Amino acid sequence: MITMGRRKQQLVMMTIMIVITIVLMALISDAKIINITNKLGSKKTLIVHCESVDDDLGVLAVNYGDFYHWDFEDSSLFRPVVFWCRLALEDGRLSFVAYIEQEGGGGYAVMGYDVNETGLYGPNMYDEWRKYDLLHPWKRIQFP
Ligand SMILES: *[C@@H]1O[C@H](CO)[C@@H](O)[C@H](O)[C@H]1NC(C)=O
Ligand SMILES: *[C@@H]1O[C@H](CO)[C@@H](O)[C@H](O)[C@H]1NC(C)=O
Repeated sequence: MITMGRRKQQLVMMTIMIVITIVLMALISDAKIINITNKLGSKKTLIVHCESVDDDLGVLAVNYGDFYHWDFEDSSLFRPVVFWCRLALEDGRLSFVAYIEQEGGGGYAVMGYDVNETGLYGPNMYDEWRKYDLLHPWKRIQFP
């Protein structure tokens, strides 16, 4: 039996704790996808700008019929992940919260949003069953 010094024992314990924490974090982490589809008629281009506290995904143009998606992981042990997006048309604007990480993880793996002439449709996060709903109508911009 090898006897370890107290310092060495502490070091081994700390290493084990760190490894356990990393493994737990990997198990808890939950891959998510946000997917925004342009279903605007009349060949309209949708301008999308999404960001979280840590990531600015930039301003992108999504053509009619195309979709834009990205994936990320819940962070669980740290502050929750929140993504919000601003959408723009030539004559309309709207903004919405695309994702809020839930305490204890879970939730849908894919958040699919559709945009048409009425507004933004997708899973209603305030509904128990995440009902597909009109979440935000367009705010129309009037040009004089
Ligand atoms: C995004 O949505 C479009 C249209 O509903 C679908 O065709 C596509 O497979 C989706 N992509 C992902 C990664 O979920
Ligand atoms: C937008 O999509 C919703 C849900 O599919 C549909 O009920 C609505 O009529 C659509 N609006 C337009 C202008 O096509």
